[in-house]
Amino acid sequence: MQYTWEDIERFVNACSHCPLSRTRCRPVMGRGDHQADLMLIAEAPGRDEDRQGRPFVGRSGEVLDRLLRDCGLDREEIYMTNILKCHPPGNRDPKEEEKEACLPYLKYETYLLKPKIIVCLGSVAARRIISPDFKIARQHGIWTYRKKCALTAVYHPSAILRDSSKYETAKADFQEIVKKYMEHQE
Ligand code: URA
Repeated sequence: MQYTWEDIERFVNACSHCPLSRTRCRPVMGRGDHQADLMLIAEAPGRDEDRQGRPFVGRSGEVLDRLLRDCGLDREEIYMTNILKCHPPGNRDPKEEEKEACLPYLKYETYLLKPKIIVCLGSVAARRIISPDFKIARQHGIWTYRKKCALTAVYHPSAILRDSSKYETAKADFQEIVKKYMEHQE
């Protein structure tokens, strides 16, 4: 069965596969260009995202937009989503069973998008998508390849909010990401 983007969004909106569905305000489906070559995968919606039902609309979204803008990218030309589609109360780390319950949605988003480049924002996404023992401080910006897709990870915008010295590191990583992205646009 081939589902459409609209189907996936409907499933996400109706999901009750884990207890977060009882505490969330709104599920947060990924957003952006469904033809994009570049997919960003973060951790889980924060409180602002939970209220608005859209990814990266809070303070970390502002940092992400600045990073993208500084590197010549716009959020409208990429696709961004999260491992979890529902906000974990108090912004705690996602539990294993919540990630497992939510993963089919991410798999479908990836299947429909067929991105050429996947960028994990932060270690929760990098450990789920790239490797379970991923160390963001040592391995950010390193590329791995899976079939025809290049994968890397950068600091999560909320880590940059906690420690602004990480901004330049993340910007340098994003500049490399943009170079690779441009190769795919030629
Ligand atoms: N943090 C995330 O990991 N995802 C969002 O959508 C917002 C904040």
